[in-house]
Amino acid sequence: MIIGTQWGDEGKGKIVDFMAKKADVVARFQGGNNAGHTIVVGNETYKFHLLPSGILRPGKDAVIGNGLVVDPVVLLKELDELKKRKIKIARLHISDRAHVIMPYHLEIDGLEEKKKGKLSAGTTRRGIGPAYTDKIARFGIRMCDLLEKSTLARKVKIIVPLKRKMIKALGGSWYVSESDLVNEYYGYGQKMKKMIRDTSVFLDKNLAKKKMVLFEGAQGTHLDIDHGIYPFGTSSNTIAGGACTGSGLGPGVLGEIVGVVKAYTSRVGEGPFPCELEDEIGEHLRERGGEYGTTTGRPRRCGWLDMVMINYSRRVNGLTSLAITKIDVLSGLKKIKIATHYNYKGSKVVDFPASMSKLSKCKPVYKTFDGWKDVQDNEWDKMIKKGKQSLPGQLKKYLKFIEDYLSVPIKLISLGPQRHRTLVL
Ligand code: GDP
Ligand code: IMO
Ligand code: MG
Repeated sequence: MIIGTQWGDEGKGKIVDFMAKKADVVARFQGGNNAGHTIVVGNETYKFHLLPSGILRPGKDAVIGNGLVVDPVVLLKELDELKKRKIKIARLHISDRAHVIMPYHLEIDGLEEKKKGKLSAGTTRRGIGPAYTDKIARFGIRMCDLLEKSTLARKVKIIVPLKRKMIKALGGSWYVSESDLVNEYYGYGQKMKKMIRDTSVFLDKNLAKKKMVLFEGAQGTHLDIDHGIYPFGTSSNTIAGGACTGSGLGPGVLGEIVGVVKAYTSRVGEGPFPCELEDEIGEHLRERGGEYGTTTGRPRRCGWLDMVMINYSRRVNGLTSLAITKIDVLSGLKKIKIATHYNYKGSKVVDFPASMSKLSKCKPVYKTFDGWKDVQDNEWDKMIKKGKQSLPGQLKKYLKFIEDYLSVPIKLISLGPQRHRTLVL
């Protein structure tokens, strides 16, 4: 399982694509098209929002599990784009129990964000929160409903008039007739029907045949609905535990749980960020790291690596190993810092607080490391061939510090966005 340990955008897409070489099935289990996962193979760049990052491995299987909220318009567009680019892809399986993002969810997301004022998370406005709200309120439309016109019509007849009232009360206006909506979404169901199935059964059969399933987490631990920075996170369980509820398999199937750690911290959205750097170093990380949202294009807030956050992730996910990404971005910096704990009104804080008011007053306490030289791409390639011992000494110290702090081994490092710029330790 590949899990983001921070606020998303750790480079999970790249790591999943790399690891997918050894897997038989890649399964997403939560989130929706709020995710933006970038994969670079040769000169080609791919950005996926809904499709699992294993999709670029033809002959293998990719699963959209029941825990996702799926916007069929986006899914069909992503598939269509790959078709236009003549890219061979994995076989896709979509859970019949996954919930559907409907157009009113998009409207409500935007309107609620405006009304929330200082409580707004700065969502991606993809209808994620409202679709999960309907799921929990037992008001949702599921993939299986898109295959039964009469069921879909019965639900739409009850739900849509209420949504119109809600949108009006929020200060918006939205009108699509019930019959048009039913026809449009039934049409999407027809386009997807060959892919819609019970993906829990599919995964179980694969496991019975000793196939390797790779779970792909979207977002990151600190965006989790229970364990993230509430109310500034997302609406799903992004942590390892979410893989079971979101795929329909028991916890016993989970093996290696890899936490993806970006060598510094980034955040796109609102809320407290103890290690945020609003200076030239923060700017340097953003520019050199290309820290602009894959989904919304927003500039990402940047700061030093925060071990209080990562240790929290180690605990709530039960991480068994780490993959450190974007190490190349730190090259050439004279000094590199890592936050080891926070100072809150004179006392030491090692456990990430629940209170946003407390978190906003926590000051990071840093350990400072000497940097390493500005390594060129061809030099990274040589080091990848030669192995870990050829890495710059200061980088090895940086990595050892992270391992020792967490008592979790680093098994993989990423030294560039490209698939091949990856070193298995
Ligand atoms: P995800 O949401 O976790 O999959 O991450 P994103 O794709 O949103 O953001 C990560 C960005 O960093 C993408 O542009 C990747 O191509 C890029 N990236 C991933 N790994 C590395 C790396 O090791 N070095 C550099 N320089 N870029 C990377
Ligand atoms: P990947 O998978 C970074 C953030 C949004 C917002 C909050 C809630 O690419 O790492 P939502 O639209 O989910 O209701 O927004 O969560 N957010 C992400 N930030 N990476 C993501 O996904 C994110 N998905 C949601 O910016 O603050
Ligand atoms: Mg992303």
